[in-house]
Amino acid sequence: MIIENTAAFIQEKFATEGSGHDWPHIRRVWQVARALAAQEPGTDPEVVELAALLHDIADWKFHNGDYEAGPRAARAWLLSQQVPEATIARVEQVIREVSFKGLGVETPVSSPDAAVVQDADRLDAIGAIGVGRAFAYGGHKGRPLHDPATPPVSHESFAQYQQSTAPTLNHFYEKLLHLKDRLHTPAARTLAQERHRFMEAFVAQFLREWDSEDVAGLGGQRLA
Ligand code: ADP
Ligand code: NI
Repeated sequence: MIIENTAAFIQEKFATEGSGHDWPHIRRVWQVARALAAQEPGTDPEVVELAALLHDIADWKFHNGDYEAGPRAARAWLLSQQVPEATIARVEQVIREVSFKGLGVETPVSSPDAAVVQDADRLDAIGAIGVGRAFAYGGHKGRPLHDPATPPVSHESFAQYQQSTAPTLNHFYEKLLHLKDRLHTPAARTLAQERHRFMEAFVAQFLREWDSEDVAGLGGQRLA
């Protein structure tokens, strides 16, 4: 019952989200995490499902960089549902560990539960859905699609990553194209292969169109 209640609560809360952190994202992470957990020894299905459902409840990106906002909001909800303290503490810890924190920052997991939820969240950041979500997020933040004069960088701290205002295409080099090598579970690594290839093809085609190489092929003049 607690899982159903949590799903209904989150579905309602995220019904009108337009930055890519919408209910369909959370529902996919929930379902993929559940499927990965079924193949991963040592996972606790209740902790996995609750953490997946609650992982974006109060994302630091929308709470002035406060990365305890998520665990705190999850705790308040779970307390209201009389969930035992031991379960709450484990769900909070998974939520703390799930987020990407910059290319140069390791994001180790301390439990199989955190491994599958982090993998499920990252799978939803790559592939066609990942492309869509990245540009939705960039649009939400008023970012340009691309600017060749602003090269990608490797963020060496969470603070640096949080402060980035770079064009959206940079996010592929600064995060998305690296995710397949940072997955924990074999099942997630298998799922990531096709999504990664799709993103590589997307970026290559984007840059060809940006430079109008295909137009030049029609015999037209290239613009400076
Ligand atoms: P994470 O917990 O790793 O930050 P989320 O599930 O919260 O991931 O989703 C963040 C989504 O927003 C992802 O699809 C991610 O790629 C996208 N996103 C985050 N930062 C940026 C950015 N600077 N530019 C474009 N997309 C971004
Ligand atoms: Ni997420």
